[in-house]
Amino acid sequence: MTNSASGRTSNRRRLLSGMQPSGRLHLGNWLGALETWAAEQAKHDCYFFVADWHALSTNYQDTAKIRGHVREMIIDWLSAGLDPDRSTLFVQSRIPEHAVLHVILSMITPVPWLERNPTYKEKQEELKERDLTTYGFLGYPVLQAADILIYQPDDVPVGVDQLPHLELCREIARRFNHLYAKPVFKEPAALLSKTAQKIPGTDGRKMSKSYNNAIYLTDTEATVREKLKTMVTDPARVKRTDKGNPDICPVFSLHKILSPQPVIERVDRECRTAAIGCIDCKKLVADPLAARLTPLWEKRKEIERHPDQVEAIITQGCAKAQTVARQTVKEVYDVIGL
Ligand code: TRP
Ligand code: SF4
Repeated sequence: MTNSASGRTSNRRRLLSGMQPSGRLHLGNWLGALETWAAEQAKHDCYFFVADWHALSTNYQDTAKIRGHVREMIIDWLSAGLDPDRSTLFVQSRIPEHAVLHVILSMITPVPWLERNPTYKEKQEELKERDLTTYGFLGYPVLQAADILIYQPDDVPVGVDQLPHLELCREIARRFNHLYAKPVFKEPAALLSKTAQKIPGTDGRKMSKSYNNAIYLTDTEATVREKLKTMVTDPARVKRTDKGNPDICPVFSLHKILSPQPVIERVDRECRTAAIGCIDCKKLVADPLAARLTPLWEKRKEIERHPDQVEAIITQGCAKAQTVARQTVKEVYDVIGL
């Protein structure tokens, strides 16, 4: 590997990803992304950051909660096993070099590339009540490209919704290399999270903060069990003696993600004959979920005993990240002739 701007100290693959700080993380965020990130730490040189500038792109009018959300997110990450001794955990707005690279990339990115980005129009439609005709919102993917390219990662774990942004990032990297006739940027590969399966919320819709159907990583065991009890089931199964259809039941979807195979098979069989009731069926899935969350609950307690360490972890991660970011900016300046 001869990438000069990468600041690599090992030949492990480098992986980078970020999340916007939009509040407490729930089971869907964890099983869909965070758990994979934690597992990748064993194999890769990992960089994970909180994208607080990106949060501004849609929330510039309402910034009072951003700082608190950043801290909450880092605590959620630590509780889920992201390890500051193995990974670089940092906050975007504390590394001004991202903005430097962003402005440079903005000079070479054709506006039509941004206007035809499908998420640009979709988000504007979805958030009609906000004015998203801003320069920063259009340039969101350019900032994201800067976030990525400044660390020269091999892989970027993301959900499908981010694939257009990743593709733009690769196009911008290619254009830069072509314009300045130097292979400065390597094109990163998207690493699609394998839990592309949707995690159902307690109302059976996709788990989401805005639906009020989420189980949060901050929820206590009692709350998690209570929420599971309220989860909707096959709506046709009104009485205990009614036969059910697990294929349309969100509780069964959770079983398929969390329970051991014999339990899944048993529920699949006994629901159809009404041999098992929904209350018992929910208890059967509460146990493996609680078991899986127990390490997170314990880690959170430990963090709460040393709250000032969170800031120290962020500061240390930012310092590590900045060293790499500075090196990339230096190389970019050299290549351009600044
Ligand atoms: N756009 C991403 C999201 O909303 C967050 C993000 C910002 C990101 N910069 C990134 C993800 C760089 C991966 C790499 O989820
Ligand atoms: Fe759903 Fe289980 Fe009830 Fe069947 S028994 S409807 S799978 S909760």
